[in-house]
Amino acid sequence: MAPLLLLFLLPVLLLLAAADAFPASCLNATCGGHAIHYPFWLNDSTSDCGYPGLGLVCENNDTLILPVKLHRYRVGHIDYQKHTLVVSDADVVESEIDYGCPRLHVNLTIDYASSWLQLTQSDSNVTFLYGCNKNLSSSSSAVELRGCPESFAGKMSFVLLDGVATGTEAYEYECEAVVVAPVLEEHKKELENASSFGGPGGVVWAGFQLEYSAHSPQCDRCERSGGWCGYRHNQTNGGDMMFTCFCNSGPTSHRCGTYCYSSHALLSSGSLLCF
Ligand SMILES: *[C@@H]1O[C@H](CO)[C@@H](O)[C@H](O)[C@H]1NC(C)=O
Ligand SMILES: *[C@@H]1O[C@H](CO)[C@@H](O)[C@H](O)[C@H]1NC(C)=O
Ligand SMILES: *[C@@H]1O[C@H](CO)[C@@H](O)[C@H](O)[C@H]1NC(C)=O
Ligand SMILES: *[C@@H]1O[C@H](CO)[C@@H](O)[C@H](O)[C@H]1NC(C)=O
Ligand SMILES: *[C@@H]1O[C@H](CO)[C@@H](O)[C@H](O)[C@H]1NC(C)=O
Ligand SMILES: *[C@@H]1O[C@H](CO)[C@@H](O)[C@H](O)[C@H]1NC(C)=O
Ligand SMILES: *[C@@H]1O[C@H](CO)[C@@H](O)[C@H](O)[C@H]1NC(C)=O
Ligand SMILES: *[C@@H]1O[C@H](CO)[C@@H](O)[C@H](O)[C@H]1NC(C)=O
Repeated sequence: MAPLLLLFLLPVLLLLAAADAFPASCLNATCGGHAIHYPFWLNDSTSDCGYPGLGLVCENNDTLILPVKLHRYRVGHIDYQKHTLVVSDADVVESEIDYGCPRLHVNLTIDYASSWLQLTQSDSNVTFLYGCNKNLSSSSSAVELRGCPESFAGKMSFVLLDGVATGTEAYEYECEAVVVAPVLEEHKKELENASSFGGPGGVVWAGFQLEYSAHSPQCDRCERSGGWCGYRHNQTNGGDMMFTCFCNSGPTSHRCGTYCYSSHALLSSGSLLCF
């Protein structure tokens, strides 16, 4: 049993050993109290390793921001084991969360087919309708927002709890703006009782979950070999992203040196297993 166990542990040990000796710039970034680890990287660092979509900006030396299509999302907890992070729209500032009317300006737009980031099962969408002439409260899932900005004076604003906006709402209810926002499903329930959890502002502040993944067979292979994926713009190649696999022994274009071990214990044939 013991040799068998070792066989399973060996790759893990090798990976850990390999992860020890990478360029210091990959390993070491902080923003205020947050430590930033691979595959995230600090946008202003010289680091070449990390996933392209996971470059973080450190604002005021303490707030971590994830830019998505030029919009800013505040980064909360990153779970490096589960490969998830919680983010919230940075348009909603902390001083506003007591108010019942979080003012969002953009829909989250991730091109899921070509992204290192995905929404998760923990998320659910709500739709904010600002500055409407018609009262939606007869529609069962609409909750009226209180304390919206002066600019919506004399009008009504709502949050719809089920479904994504179809794009016809603004017209149908005569609203000035419609924004769809992912929120954590567990917090969405709180919106039914507008008073709890800091109201809609608190739910938006609490954010939603994103999952990150290696996204490409190329990066997957590199990580399996104990390396870290990096992408660099290649100026001589029209600025295209060039893949690099950072290994113990230095950067390579594919994967780190093949690890092999004898499988005597398992097969008694003396064959060599490589991965
Ligand atoms: C990060 O940098 C500090 C100071 O430059 C150094 O003491 C520390 O060992 C580094 N940590 C890692 C993980 O490289
Ligand atoms: C940023 O924060 C770190 C520690 O959190 C501190 O040592 C450093 O002086 C700060 N830098 C600036 C420019 O405030
Ligand atoms: C760093 O973030 C800024 C926005 O804050 C963005 O304009 C710039 O392109 C980013 N740099 C990289 C290398 O992602
Ligand atoms: C929320 O909306 C996004 C598109 O904006 C969609 O990809 C996602 O599947 C929706 N999530 C749910 C739970 O409906
Ligand atoms: C909208 O309708 C609901 C239910 O009919 C009512 O309680 C609420 O006061 C109305 N809001 C406004 C601004 O008229
Ligand atoms: C958000 O998406 C909806 C459709 O789902 C669209 O009607 C609305 O105009 C968009 N809002 C913004 C601010 O782009
Ligand atoms: C909302 O509040 C009512 C009354 O306080 C309570 O019965 C209900 O369970 C609450 N719903 C949620 C989703 O918290
Ligand atoms: C940049 O692209 C050119 C042409 O494809 C290639 O020959 C060169 O090796 C690349 N440079 C790097 C640093 O990858």
